[in-house]
Amino acid sequence: MEYSGLNKHKSRLHWLLMLMMIHILMVGQTQGDCIEEERKALLQIKASHMKSYDSNLDHFLPTWVDYGSRTSGYDGGNCCDWERVKCNTTTGHVTELSFYNLRWVIDNNMEFGNKSWPLNVSLFLHFKELSSLNLSHDFLDKETMKIGLERLSSLKKLKVLDLSGNHDIDNDIIPSLKTLTSVKILDLSDTSLNGNFPIKFVALKNLEVLDLSYCYFNGTFEIQGFETGSILTKLKILNLGNNRFDESVITSLSILSSLTNLDLSYNQMSGSFPAQGTCYDLTIYISS
Ligand SMILES: *[C@@H]1O[C@H](CO)[C@@H](O)[C@H](O)[C@H]1NC(C)=O
Ligand SMILES: *[C@@H]1O[C@H](CO)[C@@H](O)[C@H](O)[C@H]1NC(C)=O
Ligand SMILES: *[C@@H]1O[C@H](CO)[C@@H](O)[C@H](O)[C@H]1NC(C)=O
Ligand SMILES: *[C@@H]1O[C@H](CO)[C@@H](O)[C@H](O)[C@H]1NC(C)=O
Ligand SMILES: *[C@@H]1O[C@H](CO)[C@@H](O)[C@H](O)[C@H]1NC(C)=O
Repeated sequence: MEYSGLNKHKSRLHWLLMLMMIHILMVGQTQGDCIEEERKALLQIKASHMKSYDSNLDHFLPTWVDYGSRTSGYDGGNCCDWERVKCNTTTGHVTELSFYNLRWVIDNNMEFGNKSWPLNVSLFLHFKELSSLNLSHDFLDKETMKIGLERLSSLKKLKVLDLSGNHDIDNDIIPSLKTLTSVKILDLSDTSLNGNFPIKFVALKNLEVLDLSYCYFNGTFEIQGFETGSILTKLKILNLGNNRFDESVITSLSILSSLTNLDLSYNQMSGSFPAQGTCYDLTIYISS
């Protein structure tokens, strides 16, 4: 009797020790280490870029190397340490990705001209916690963006999206773009967006900062059918500098109730326009 009681006690202790060991192992594995699925997706993105430009250079994303998963013991196995990648240090999920000006790394003489990068946007769906995606100056392919961008709408934590400096991108992406309702900061400057201000952006209900500078907008902001305070209700900062707007745009922009900073520098303003900062608590930058 006594003996078996002691055994029972012992085996409980073993169980407890084992559970503690497992816990320690698991914590050790997840903390700061990247998720295998995300590591593979990053390598696929790198491969796609290299394939597009037929490059095989050692100095292209040199930290993004495939030493196998984290268990291999090599530093390269932890993609959270890779350049252009930021992870949540607790969960190990990738939260920020920057592919800013990736082409320049391999091609600073512009040998590839305007050859675009047909990036598979679905690859980003592997990053469930992604909050910031910077694809600025990446020669993004218009057709893949037009269809693909919409897929990003399932990334509910996506707050920052930078598509600036991609000259192939034009109004065709707007239907897809307007589905990205979680986005707060959107940079579309220096793209080929043109014509009337794209009112379809109203769907981006969480948008706080919108940069549309250095595009080809010339028409007014079409506001028929909308009431003041009903569209882009959170938009605080709007940059429309270096477009072709005339002074009539100022009156129509009064529909944006939360606006605090408006940049209209270098447009086609002539004659007189409302004095700066009147009517509402708004700073307007106008120079020409
Ligand atoms: C990391 O993820 C945890 C769990 O989801 C979250 O509570 C924490 O705020 C995140 N940390 C950062 C810096 O975002
Ligand atoms: C690239 O595109 C820009 C405008 O989008 C154009 O001015 C330039 O000539 C093009 N360059 C080549 C090499 O096609
Ligand atoms: C794009 O990426 C997704 C997700 O990884 C994958 O399922 C799909 O096959 C890829 N499409 C192409 C054309 O490579
Ligand atoms: C994208 O990256 C570039 C280079 O680091 C940076 O200047 C730019 O501000 C980034 N975009 C956003 C929206 O943060
Ligand atoms: C605006 O530019 C487009 C071409 O992008 C042109 O067709 C249209 O006539 C222009 N509108 C105005 C008001 O200048």
